Amino acid sequence: MDRAVERMLDSAAGCYAAAGRVAKGFASGKLRHDPMYAALLRLGCLPDRGVLADLGCGRGLLLALIAAASEQFGRGDWPAGWPPPPSQLALHGYDVNAAHVTLARRVLDGRARITLQDVRETRLPPCTAVALLDVLFYLDPDAQEQVLLHAAMALEPGGVLLLREADAAHGLAFLMTRWSERTLEALRGRPRGRLYYRSAREWVTLLSSLGLAVRTEPMSTGTPFANVLFVCRKAVTSDG
Ligand SMILES: C[S@@+](CC[C@H](N)C(=O)[O-])C[C@H]1O[C@@H](n2cnc3c(N)ncnc32)[C@H](O)[C@@H]1O
Repeated sequence: MDRAVERMLDSAAGCYAAAGRVAKGFASGKLRHDPMYAALLRLGCLPDRGVLADLGCGRGLLLALIAAASEQFGRGDWPAGWPPPPSQLALHGYDVNAAHVTLARRVLDGRARITLQDVRETRLPPCTAVALLDVLFYLDPDAQEQVLLHAAMALEPGGVLLLREADAAHGLAFLMTRWSERTLEALRGRPRGRLYYRSAREWVTLLSSLGLAVRTEPMSTGTPFANVLFVCRKAVTSDG
């Protein structure tokens, strides 16, 4: 891995040090071993400015990474060939898990606004970007569609919706992804918790029906999973 990328991931994970070894270890492992976080910056998926709503932000990993990346770029230390990270993006996170919200607030320390809220009830302000990363599979199909509709409506013209989900048509790798998530749910004390998946093609159809232009990026490199990132752009003008 490029040294500048390593420094950025370490710096983002370092935000969690004050919350203890377990929190820092989790952040470090997730940021290093899940290819999505660095890829969002490498692929230039995030806008330079405006408002990012990270729905189901969890412990705030993406927000901590953006904050760390902006600081590192400001010091002139940046991976060669990567687009600049956001410079003036207001960071808003929403999550229903009180422990995650408390941790995210603590580690982000004023660099992001974190709200304890169910994304099914969140009323979004106008947004330049909305992230839904590994969240919608917890919601039933109707709720998934309602959340996506609301996100698409909240997006400003030219804004981007970033969705990551598993591709239910991806054979063994999908079965591995679902097994892993079910195991995590059981460990959280929800052995019967239902998870709701769609194929990548079904996601593209749904997102396109909301008027979004969709590009897909495989997002499981180096892992046994079947994750896909959907980069969805709202047209710049209302008539497309
Ligand atoms: C697998 S974690 C992903 C966290 C974060 N998006 C990331 O990629 O680092 C899923 C998160 O979604 C949150 N979540 C699940 N259902 C939710 C809901 N209805 N409203 C808000 N957050 C929800 C969970 O609390 C958890 O923090």
